[in-house]
Amino acid sequence: RPRLLSGIQPTADSFHLGNYLGAVRHWVAMQEDHEAFYCVVDLHAITVAQDPAVLRERTRRAAAQLLALGIDPSRSALFVQSHVPEHAQLAWVLNCITGFGEASRMTQFKDKSLKQGADRASVGLFTYPVLQAADILLYQTDVVPVGEDQRQHLELTRDLAGRFNTSFGPTLRVPAPHIVKDTAKILDLQDPTAKMSKSAQSPAGLVELMEEPNRAAKKFRSAVTDTGREIVFDPEHKPGVSNLLTIHAALSGRSVDDLVAAFDGKGYGDLKKDLAAVFVEFASPIQERVRQYLDDPAQLDKILGEGAVKARAVASATLAAVYDRIGFLPPR
Ligand code: TYM
Repeated sequence: RPRLLSGIQPTADSFHLGNYLGAVRHWVAMQEDHEAFYCVVDLHAITVAQDPAVLRERTRRAAAQLLALGIDPSRSALFVQSHVPEHAQLAWVLNCITGFGEASRMTQFKDKSLKQGADRASVGLFTYPVLQAADILLYQTDVVPVGEDQRQHLELTRDLAGRFNTSFGPTLRVPAPHIVKDTAKILDLQDPTAKMSKSAQSPAGLVELMEEPNRAAKKFRSAVTDTGREIVFDPEHKPGVSNLLTIHAALSGRSVDDLVAAFDGKGYGDLKKDLAAVFVEFASPIQERVRQYLDDPAQLDKILGEGAVKARAVASATLAAVYDRIGFLPPR
C-alpha cells in the first residue's frame, strides 16, 4: 500500500470547513487503501506565540475532531508531532541543505511575517516549511493530501528530497501532492475572492466544524453572493454562488450538476437555506462524537500514544539512514 502523510495545526478550537473539505475529508477516504500517518503539528503551531494551556487543549481537540470525522486509529497512525522527536531532528539536517533565498521565497512566510511585522516574526516561522518537509520525508511518503495553499511547501519538500539524494545517495522518497481540484480552495463566505481561513477579516466568513449549528446556519444564510439571480456554477464570474454549490455538493454527496438542476428557477435564498440545513445535519452528530472523545482524555491520550509508537518505528529508521549518509558517527 502506498504511504500517505498529512498534518494539521492545533491553532484553533475548531477545524473550519476549508480544513475539512480541502484535506481531512480526503484523509478519511484515503486511509482505506494507503498506509496513512496523520499528525497534529504542535511544533508548527509554536512558530507563532501560543498560550501553553490553550495549546494543550487544542491539541486534544484536534485529535478528537480527526477521530470524530472518521480517522480510524486501528488502521492509521494518528499522533502528535512533538511525541516523535525525529521530526525536529530531520528538520535540522534539512535546514542545512536549504538555501536562505529559497526559504525567503515561501509565500506563506512572506504573508504571515508581513502581518506580524518582519522583526517580530520568529526564525521558526521562517523555517516552518523545512519542518514540514521533514514531517513528510521521515515516512518515505508517496502522497500528501492537502489544500491548494500547501502546494509551494510540497514543491520545496520534493526539491529537498531530490537534493539530499543527489548529494548523499538515494535515501528519501520524493512525494507527490494530492490536491483535489473541486475542494482545494474553499472560499470565505463574506469575501469569495479569499480562501476560508482562521485569520479571516470577519468571523461571518468562516464556518467552524464545532460552532453552534444555528450560528453556522445563519452564516450560510447571510453569505455574500453575486450579481444576477440564477444559480449556475461559474467560479470565475460567480465565485460566491459557486463556492456554496461546492460546499453543498461535498457535504450532501450530490453532484454540482444535480444541484444546479434541482435549483433551476429558484433563488440564492433557497440554496443558502438548503445548505444551512445540510450543514446542521452533517455537523450535529460529529460535534456529539467530538464531545465524547473529549470526555475521556485518558482514552484519547492512549490512542495518541499508540499512534506515536507506530510513527516512531518508521521515522527512526529514516533518520538513522539519513544520519549515516551524512557521516555522523554512530553512538556506541
Ligand atoms: P493547516 O493546519 O493550515 O490546514 C490543514 C489543511 O487544511 C487545508 N486548508 C484548506 N483547504 C481548502 N480550502 C481552504 N480554505 C483551506 N484552508 C486550509 C490545508 O491546505 C491543509 O491541508 N502546513 C500545514 C500543516 C502541515 C502539513 C505537514 C501538511 C505541517 N506538516 C505535512 C501536510 C504534510 C498547515 O498549515 O495546514
